[in-house]
Amino acid sequence: MNILLLGSGGREHAFAWKLSQSPLCDKLLIAPGNAGTEDYGTNLLLNPNDFSAVKAIVLEHDVKMVVCGPEEPLVRGIQDFFRTDNDLKQVYFIGPSKVAAQLEGSKAYAKAFMEEYGIPTAEYREFSTEQLTESLAYLDSIPTPIVLKADGLAAGKGVVILDDLVAAKTEMTEMLGGKFGDASSKVVVEEFLDGIEFSVFVLTDGENYRVLPVAKDYKRIGEGDTGLNTGGMGSVSHPPFVDAEMMRKVEERVIQPTIRGLKARKLDYKGFVFIGLISVNGEPKVIEYNCRMGDPETQSVFARMNNDFVQLFKDLCEDQLDHTVIETDPRQVATVVLVSGGYPGSYEKGKVISGLDEVGGSTVFHAGTKRNEDGELVTNGGRVLAVTSYGTTFRDALKTSLKNAEKIKFEGVNYRSDIGFDL
Ligand code: AMP
Ligand code: GLY
Repeated sequence: MNILLLGSGGREHAFAWKLSQSPLCDKLLIAPGNAGTEDYGTNLLLNPNDFSAVKAIVLEHDVKMVVCGPEEPLVRGIQDFFRTDNDLKQVYFIGPSKVAAQLEGSKAYAKAFMEEYGIPTAEYREFSTEQLTESLAYLDSIPTPIVLKADGLAAGKGVVILDDLVAAKTEMTEMLGGKFGDASSKVVVEEFLDGIEFSVFVLTDGENYRVLPVAKDYKRIGEGDTGLNTGGMGSVSHPPFVDAEMMRKVEERVIQPTIRGLKARKLDYKGFVFIGLISVNGEPKVIEYNCRMGDPETQSVFARMNNDFVQLFKDLCEDQLDHTVIETDPRQVATVVLVSGGYPGSYEKGKVISGLDEVGGSTVFHAGTKRNEDGELVTNGGRVLAVTSYGTTFRDALKTSLKNAEKIKFEGVNYRSDIGFDL
């Protein structure tokens, strides 16, 4: 069948890599894709948020399956667009409906959902623009650090953790005053949770589910997990502290009640639930839901899956998930992300990338890359490439990723050499 994959990051390169390996995949189209996805299919210049343009491509290329990588089209309702359009409703669509995507698109929705279904998470209060005075009085009454979250999607910048009450009040005032536009017309204040984070990925049809390999991602720019937050500087799978006992707790206390909630609310959900968790003294609590896979977790998680992905998604859409087995590779995986100099602050694009042909023993996933007019591979974003490797331990895997990362050159290149070292 012909397949359309929406998105352009390292995550989408990993999807393209897996989908293209399936004998069930005829034509693979990626919109808009990057220089790496071109190795597995055809890139199309198309904005995934332009649903009519997506429809035109689906009809023109006789696409039978659409896989949505990023959250934005989902939160804007692309799945509903497909379900309610007579020409598109037969197309297999991987991703939840607009309402279900609120699990990621609205922190307040997610918190209320967790409360209703008894899912362990941080205590919280929510405030809207009219409640500024009340919100500031509330901040006076709680201990620091203070966790403030803009309700809606804010390009990864909507969560702020502050040690200082005055700074927290300023931030609250700015957020409710429209710092993130509509996305911060509501703000969630959360209890600060101290522990170690990990990411659990679930594929579900809203009734049955399968748990994918577990990962841990490294968000800070600097070695030793210091400095500014980024989209993600690396990931490992499987983090050893997530043992069988922890996974039993996660499954019983988090995954099963989440699926029960999807069912009880009759949410149309055929896709991934990414559950960001924190282990507080061995007890899992949910930090966030996302309605898609993580980046750069996907690169490590998919490397540990041997399934035929087209078959997997067919099973999902044909309500056959209860017959599906997730085939896991027992090896450990480490992914190191190479970023542009200056990222996550301002950075330049268009730097020529060399050395990829010297890489051996790792898979290199592209994110912010493109070909310039001369056909050269150049940087085109903050996160540029992700180097993923196997090992018997993830220290070994990391060694291989670092050895290959060293061979890749572009002006200003930066990466962390301590991915997984805290474990
Ligand atoms: P989120 O966008 O909700 O995942 O938040 C971004 C990051 O902020 C998380 O990955 C955590 O590192 C941190 N964070 C979010 N909520 C809390 C919390 N309640 N306590 C401590 N850290 C948090
Ligand atoms: N790596 C975190 C995310 O994809 O949201």
